Amino acid sequence: MALPVSSLPLSLFLFLVHVHYFSASAGPVYNIQSFGATDDGETDSSNALLHAWSAACAASAPATLYVPSGTFLVEKANFSRPCTNTNITIQINGTLLAPSNYTHGEAWLLFYQVHGVSILGGTIDGQGASLWSCKRSNVSDCPVGARSLVISNSHEIVISGLTSVNSKLFHIAIGGSQNVRVQRVNISAPGKSPNTDGIHVEGSSNVTILESDIGTGDDCISIGPGASNLYIEKVTCGPGHGISIGSLGWVKLEPGVSNVTVNRTVFTGTTNGLRIKTWARPSDGFVKGVVFESATMQDVHNPILITQNYCPHNLNCPGETSGIQVSDVAYRDIQGSSATKVAVKFDCSPTVPCKGIELLNINITYEGGQAQTSCQNAAGNTTGFVIPPSCLSN
Ligand SMILES: *[C@@H]1O[C@H](CO)[C@@H](O)[C@H](O)[C@H]1NC(C)=O
Ligand SMILES: *[C@@H]1O[C@H](CO)[C@@H](O)[C@H](O)[C@H]1NC(C)=O
Ligand SMILES: *[C@@H]1O[C@H](CO)[C@@H](O)[C@H](O)[C@H]1NC(C)=O
Ligand SMILES: *[C@@H]1O[C@H](CO)[C@@H](O)[C@H](O)[C@H]1NC(C)=O
Ligand SMILES: *[C@@H]1O[C@H](CO)[C@@H](O)[C@H](O)[C@H]1NC(C)=O
Ligand SMILES: *[C@@H]1O[C@H](CO)[C@@H](O)[C@H](O)[C@H]1NC(C)=O
Ligand SMILES: *[C@@H]1O[C@H](CO)[C@@H](O)[C@H](O)[C@H]1NC(C)=O
Ligand SMILES: *[C@@H]1O[C@H](CO)[C@@H](O)[C@H](O)[C@H]1NC(C)=O
Ligand SMILES: *[C@@H]1O[C@H](CO)[C@@H](O)[C@H](O)[C@H]1NC(C)=O
Ligand SMILES: *[C@@H]1O[C@H](CO)[C@@H](O)[C@H](O)[C@H]1NC(C)=O
Ligand SMILES: *[C@@H]1O[C@H](CO)[C@@H](O)[C@H](O)[C@H]1NC(C)=O
Repeated sequence: MALPVSSLPLSLFLFLVHVHYFSASAGPVYNIQSFGATDDGETDSSNALLHAWSAACAASAPATLYVPSGTFLVEKANFSRPCTNTNITIQINGTLLAPSNYTHGEAWLLFYQVHGVSILGGTIDGQGASLWSCKRSNVSDCPVGARSLVISNSHEIVISGLTSVNSKLFHIAIGGSQNVRVQRVNISAPGKSPNTDGIHVEGSSNVTILESDIGTGDDCISIGPGASNLYIEKVTCGPGHGISIGSLGWVKLEPGVSNVTVNRTVFTGTTNGLRIKTWARPSDGFVKGVVFESATMQDVHNPILITQNYCPHNLNCPGETSGIQVSDVAYRDIQGSSATKVAVKFDCSPTVPCKGIELLNINITYEGGQAQTSCQNAAGNTTGFVIPPSCLSN
């Protein structure tokens, strides 16, 4: 049915005008510049971005939202419903720049309740420097800031080839989502930038993180309550606080973490390597079924660490122990150097001791010589060579 153009709503008319077909098979391409985006790094292009998103969402074929080369200031964007299209590619060839003074909100770039979105290439710059210096200066009323890229309650999401720099808080956060693949991302913020975790995953299943380079002022990857079927392979970490399951167990009613694999990682100069961390508070949560395989540690302060007595300043957990049961955690083929004498530390809960810890072919040295291990309330067994020797009980 062909409608006369004059009978179309103005917004739909504008969408039609701005559609470009790069090739028949790739579907329509919505260039944000056609929707009024300006690549001067100063004019807010949020509206153009969201109008291009609406157009891609309304398209009946697979569609591309295109961010050309150049720098586009985006105050804030919420990519959400209504979106009937379940095959949208966001091709970023330039840079999306956050305002440096941005003070509020859940997220700078939020994907909420969307299905079938691929975010490819490009750079997102959170411009966190002024917020970090505020936080470091002990001023009490610094803005909270915002996480750079948040995937919330969504599924079938791909993030590939993206560079994320200088976020105000976490760089990428994935929550309440399924089937998310993060591949070839490059995340960087200075080692002294507070709360700039690289990738955070919680309440999500079937998340895969591959072939990525992460260096930040906090955890390279942090894994929160309710993460399951998480697979991580070929990630480098440093500077940063390592790859961490936790902190868990702040609340009593908490979903557990299960089936996590962390494979082929390299840690350089980080404060931790492979860590599991829980609050010393009562909790129904758990950590179960974790494989840490093929890791290289280069001058890492705590290469292998389970710490269940986290309670900074002894506030909010007086006399408590952690209720989080840690079980079936395997460490296989972990080698390299520790920057402190205790290279392997299992400080588990006295009320629910760690069980089923497996050590296979571990070789971590300290200053070229023998490192130490430390165990509290930790049971498991060893296979192959384990250097320094295991202190697990059977
Ligand atoms: C999305 O569309 C592209 C281009 O037509 C196609 O190659 C791809 O397989 C589609 N993806 C899904 C998940 O349907
Ligand atoms: C994003 O948009 C959706 C749909 O309009 C809305 O439900 C949600 O609350 C928004 N989120 C934020 C953080 O603005
Ligand atoms: C955008 O970048 C992609 C990936 O590098 C490239 O294939 C494509 O040709 C670029 N698009 C344009 C219009 O330059
Ligand atoms: C940030 O700065 C811009 C430009 O100076 C201003 O328009 C905007 O209102 C400021 N935003 C906040 C949240 O302070
Ligand atoms: C901030 O406070 C901490 C602890 O009170 C102190 O160690 C640090 O020196 C202070 N930093 C600045 C820049 O004042
Ligand atoms: C990652 O990004 C940083 C900052 O933009 C850059 O210095 C570095 O070369 C990039 N690394 C890779 C492997 O692309
Ligand atoms: C997650 O992956 C598993 C194993 O591949 C599959 O059985 C399950 O259906 C997936 N879950 C979701 C929510 O897609
Ligand atoms: C565990 O997670 C992996 C992905 O890392 C998945 O392939 C496998 O099916 C999951 N196992 C179970 C029992 O769900
Ligand atoms: C680790 O990666 C290697 C190479 O891709 C693979 O053969 C191995 O099965 C993986 N290990 C786990 C525990 O998934
Ligand atoms: C060693 O631990 C693994 C993993 O928990 C378990 O499957 C195996 O049965 C244990 N072996 C012995 C001899 O305890
Ligand atoms: C452990 O690593 C040290 C230092 O790299 C090396 O000299 C030693 O041969 C290794 N031992 C085993 C059993 O692999």
